[in-house]
Amino acid sequence: MQDFGDVVSLRLGSRPVVLVTRPAEVVRILEHNPGNYRPSASYREIEKLIGQGLVTTDGELWKRHRAALQPAFRKSSTAELVPLCAERVAAFLRSRPAWSQPDAAVDLHHEMRCLMMSLTSAALFGLDSADDAEEFTQAFDAAHAYIMRRIEALVRLDGPTAARRRFLRAKAALHRCVESRIRRQAATCAGAYLLAQLMKGGPEQDASFSQEELRDELLTIFLASYDTTATALTWLWLVLSLHGEVRRRVAEEVATRLPAGVACADDLASLHYTRMVVLETLRLFPPVWAFSRTAAADDVLGGYRIPAGTKVAISPYCTHRHPAVWEDPDAFRPERFGDGQPGWPPGGYLPFGLGPRHCLGRNLALQLMVLVLVMVVRAYSVEVLGPSNPAFEAGIFLKPRHGLPARIAPLPGS
Ligand code: HEM
Repeated sequence: MQDFGDVVSLRLGSRPVVLVTRPAEVVRILEHNPGNYRPSASYREIEKLIGQGLVTTDGELWKRHRAALQPAFRKSSTAELVPLCAERVAAFLRSRPAWSQPDAAVDLHHEMRCLMMSLTSAALFGLDSADDAEEFTQAFDAAHAYIMRRIEALVRLDGPTAARRRFLRAKAALHRCVESRIRRQAATCAGAYLLAQLMKGGPEQDASFSQEELRDELLTIFLASYDTTATALTWLWLVLSLHGEVRRRVAEEVATRLPAGVACADDLASLHYTRMVVLETLRLFPPVWAFSRTAAADDVLGGYRIPAGTKVAISPYCTHRHPAVWEDPDAFRPERFGDGQPGWPPGGYLPFGLGPRHCLGRNLALQLMVLVLVMVVRAYSVEVLGPSNPAFEAGIFLKPRHGLPARIAPLPGS
């Protein structure tokens, strides 16, 4: 983008891809002409892991499932999850030795992944604990590494290699974990968690989902939610540690507005500055840093002809740091999201995507990020150790390559 502009043809291995970073073209692809831009071949690789869930399907199947899942993710539905999630965060912080010892050294990225595993299990399945968290995370990491190697590979072999056998074992483990969650909760399908809303009397009676579809959707939602949000929270601790004044203002807002802690979604919604900090973190460090589509028919983007079959890459990371869109784009300034600010052009801010396929879990993700931030800021000091610009690992998600080493200590009197 910096060297060649807003529409750039690249070669990744043997495959051409056109990187599109200007908001006007991003909007055309995702919002105005989405029927022409379908999930690309990379999604076929992801499908090998998560099957036919929302992220990977297209056409009528996608439409039917999106319509069935949408109500469970509306603001009014996710608001009901707040008390359950607040209880889970408190239980997590109590249960981890690192959070009760003074000045314990931890990898905050690992901690956030474990926390989100537990929170997602609660929000989706109503489960008290994620006792298979270790198995789930390891299986996910192994499967993710295999998928990334295939997305990046010049030639994809489908033979029975050792790597493929390991991948199939990891995938079977993930299926086992999700199916056991569904089984454990199917009997008591009531309560404020998302599976209860989706099952409405059990999958057999629900015309919109077969057992297999339900499993694939839940695995999709689980994977789409837990690692993205954990990664976003990890970046949040980094920026708060680098910007002491911002951290102080967040702590002050939390102490002033919520002296008795978090009881409901309105409590979280009252924290305007804290939310701005979250939104600005997602601008500088969007966990979904890039995604792609394939053009079904010829199109023109930014004056360039895009022939049918072209793979087009969209990068929230690049667009969020585009100098024509954001003033001083690399600076961390939560005020950009305040009332009365100039804002950004349509398509200039898209950590959750845009158009009909925008993130289903946007409300839930923002709610969980603010909730975790509030509960940790109230009770702990968090000091990130190591470099202020940790190396990136840009796989499906944008993560710190070596985790995020930090020292945490309970605040006096908490
Ligand atoms: C900070 C956290 C999150 C970020 C940054 C994020 C980002 C995104 C982005 C960029 C997309 C669009 C991808 C594309 O257009 O190809 C997306 C789609 C999706 N996200 Fe999220 N997400 C987050 C959390 C969640 C959560 C908590 C859930 C569910 C509970 C979720 C479920 C989904 C699903 C199901 C889709 C596919 C939607 C469709 O194609 O219809 N995400 N997400």
